[in-house]
Amino acid sequence: MTAITDIAAVGTWVRDARAIAVLSGAGMSAESGVPTFRDAQTGLWAKFRPEELATEAAFRADPRRVWDWYASRREMMKDVHPNAGHHAIAAFQQRHPGRLTLITQNVDGLHQAAGSVGTLALHGNLFEDIWLDPCMGAPGHGGVCDVSRALPGRPPTCADCSNALRPGVVWFGEMLPAVALAAAEDAAQACDLMLVVGTSGAVYPAAGLAHTARQSGARVVVINPEPTELDSVAHALVRATAAVAMPALLGG
Ligand code: APR
Repeated sequence: MTAITDIAAVGTWVRDARAIAVLSGAGMSAESGVPTFRDAQTGLWAKFRPEELATEAAFRADPRRVWDWYASRREMMKDVHPNAGHHAIAAFQQRHPGRLTLITQNVDGLHQAAGSVGTLALHGNLFEDIWLDPCMGAPGHGGVCDVSRALPGRPPTCADCSNALRPGVVWFGEMLPAVALAAAEDAAQACDLMLVVGTSGAVYPAAGLAHTARQSGARVVVINPEPTELDSVAHALVRATAAVAMPALLGG
């Protein structure tokens, strides 16, 4: 049975750890004002579930609706800033270079904005656009669609063929970026402490990294105000929020 542990006890594990892996989820950004995935969607998006929008099929069926959903999320992020939890992770990385590997499921860029380095972004980046399909090969097109010449639209399209831009995030059912995932697997195997913060542990392969860490002999700590699907993998549960727990564990 996993013990619910106070932050001070886990703090000694952090101090003694040679290699720390942090696996973060949407709860990491909750105290920055960003709704989590399992929070109810609001406004005109309230009638949709993320699973109905964040898929290639949804985009192909209604590119404008999915593009607009991501545009509304980008717009919402304009006034959002990293919180004390993001800053604590970044500051620890700066004080102890190479000792903490950050793996995130988040696409909001807040870890990076806080100064985290080498962030393994398993689900992509909300603010990046990529082409939906390989180049459609219009005559004289040279086989590469040029983002700088994309025609404005919802979504923007290639000036030379009918290719569309799409958000550079990993949609349900899509493969994760192989290089980031391999590096995350390596970090989970090599760490002697994994801090799992702000994730329900509902989505694989990201959630599987906690199992990998445990099986590789690391101590696993789940930091979440609520129970999660990874609690059974943890040696310790810290029932606290990210912006409170991470500064307490890693230093402010
Ligand atoms: N501090 C820490 N955790 C928090 C906080 C907080 N302030 N507020 C909420 N949480 C926790 C919730 O209790 C929940 O367990 O954050 C978790 C958020 O869970 P989800 O909404 O499922 O988000 P996440 O786990 O990141 O989802 C994983 O699923 O939808 C896909 O690709 C998407 O990356 C996402 C993945």
